[in-house]
Amino acid sequence: MIFRSLNLLIFGVLAVQVLSEDPYNCAGTQTINPPVDTTKSWFYPANWNTTLPTPQFAGNQNCVWNINVPKGWYAQWIISSNTKNSVVKMTDSTGYVTTLTVASKDQYFLLDPSFKVELQASDAGQLGMQVTWIQVNSKLYPSTSKVHQNSLPISLFGGDFDNSTVITADTQVSLLAFPSNVLDFLPLLRVTQVYDGDSINAKHVGNLYQTLDSGTNFVSSGKSLTLFSLFPGLTTQNLVLLQDYADVKQFKSYQPVYCILPNTCAASLNATQGPAAAIRYWPTFYVTRIDMTADNKLSVYNGYLGDDHKLSDYTSANSKTDLPQKFNGQFTVFVLDKGTATITFSGDANSAKWTDGFDGRNGFLASPNYGLMSNDQSLADQIISTSKLSDITYSFNSASLLGDATLNVAIMDGQKVSQNDTYTASGAKSGTVTSVGTSLTVRYQPNGAVTSGPYVRFTLREHNSAVGTGILLAVGISIWKMLAI
Ligand SMILES: *[C@@H]1O[C@H](CO)[C@@H](O)[C@H](O)[C@H]1NC(C)=O
Ligand SMILES: *[C@@H]1O[C@H](CO)[C@@H](O)[C@H](O)[C@H]1NC(C)=O
Ligand SMILES: *[C@@H]1O[C@H](CO)[C@@H](O)[C@H](O)[C@H]1NC(C)=O
Ligand SMILES: *[C@@H]1O[C@H](CO)[C@@H](O)[C@H](O)[C@H]1NC(C)=O
Repeated sequence: MIFRSLNLLIFGVLAVQVLSEDPYNCAGTQTINPPVDTTKSWFYPANWNTTLPTPQFAGNQNCVWNINVPKGWYAQWIISSNTKNSVVKMTDSTGYVTTLTVASKDQYFLLDPSFKVELQASDAGQLGMQVTWIQVNSKLYPSTSKVHQNSLPISLFGGDFDNSTVITADTQVSLLAFPSNVLDFLPLLRVTQVYDGDSINAKHVGNLYQTLDSGTNFVSSGKSLTLFSLFPGLTTQNLVLLQDYADVKQFKSYQPVYCILPNTCAASLNATQGPAAAIRYWPTFYVTRIDMTADNKLSVYNGYLGDDHKLSDYTSANSKTDLPQKFNGQFTVFVLDKGTATITFSGDANSAKWTDGFDGRNGFLASPNYGLMSNDQSLADQIISTSKLSDITYSFNSASLLGDATLNVAIMDGQKVSQNDTYTASGAKSGTVTSVGTSLTVRYQPNGAVTSGPYVRFTLREHNSAVGTGILLAVGISIWKMLAI
């Protein structure tokens, strides 16, 4: 529904309001076959073409066009319409129904054996259409991709499917469609067809636009699925995520997160029927707010589900203190256990106030591939106290300290070092460190080591000098002892 309204927004502006002088009457039910000369299109009305204003039809009539598409061919349907109460409906060969109000040369790509256009004209309106029959490219060189359980999703993009792509899985294939970043390209997702099997001869189940509009993932009935763009050369750059179904099976709903306006963007999850998940793709983003009820939990994972790469759990209580939070992985997965939640995102550090270390703030700093064995795990980040002085506490995982990897954590009071620790494999330690300062700086360098990446949790509390330095000194000494072993 969202996409339809967006379409309205885009094309409503373009809709030509010029009315022709004589509203036409259509002629009941008609069957349309491709012309003998398939270089010619079929137009309705016959004297119309897409360079002319959309012709007007009279009210109080119903018409049906059954348009045949031979096997091995597809029909390109171009429609312009403008209706108030009248209904223009198109049913494709899979039974998927599209209801149109305002359309301006919208394009559909329709497969055999036929599609049906219905006009239920309660009042006057405008409708013109063109159908061109084109042979499906039979000289394909299909590419193949494999997805496995307990693995990162595979990302493919609109433009990758001109030669057809066959995806095979250990169990079944889960397909999640994202819109194109360019909104004008959104309707062109209709060019890429989805087949429930290992070639374009398998059962045709719809197109990527329909998958996206379903609001969840499509799951193949067997181990393979085929994607194929009927009209080559449309590099619409829309993202398609492919996964083994075993990795997403537990989700009752699974949605893509995408942000058209990067700094005013939200995703709502509804887990009233069971766990609900959403996934977001690069680039780095920030969660600035989570609205949820008191009894549910939102868990966030890097890449895919698994305790090894869980980034955090949010509840209504800690969502006040543990945000904003940066996420820099390729895929970030949000899973809500029950009830509903709305997550608000921001695309940049400044508007998210990412570095602001307010009193009571908690959070974490993690590398982009945290929890996934990789040599691409560098991290450099800083949190700056918004109070005059803060008690800054951190803890870290020592699992990332392998080979020559180093983790350096510095707590500074202005330009003065309060605490500066470098951790390595030989002196690997873990524990909790607290010091008084105005900033926390974390640097991790893998130095060639393949590791699961650093994860540093931090807390800032406004420093209350009345508490006395004695206690802090004691804490400092005990930590120093712990680290000096
Ligand atoms: C569309 O129809 C008009 C009027 O018949 C004609 O002048 C024009 O050449 C046609 N355009 C195309 C692209 O066929
Ligand atoms: C399909 O692949 C063949 C062989 O690699 C290539 O020559 C052809 O251009 C490709 N077609 C499209 C539409 O990408
Ligand atoms: C969540 O889903 C349930 C069941 O589908 C529905 O009744 C409810 O209205 C939804 N809640 C929200 C906030 O969308
Ligand atoms: C902390 O110690 C490391 C290694 O000894 C050093 O390279 C770095 O400059 C120090 N950081 C600060 C802020 O002094």
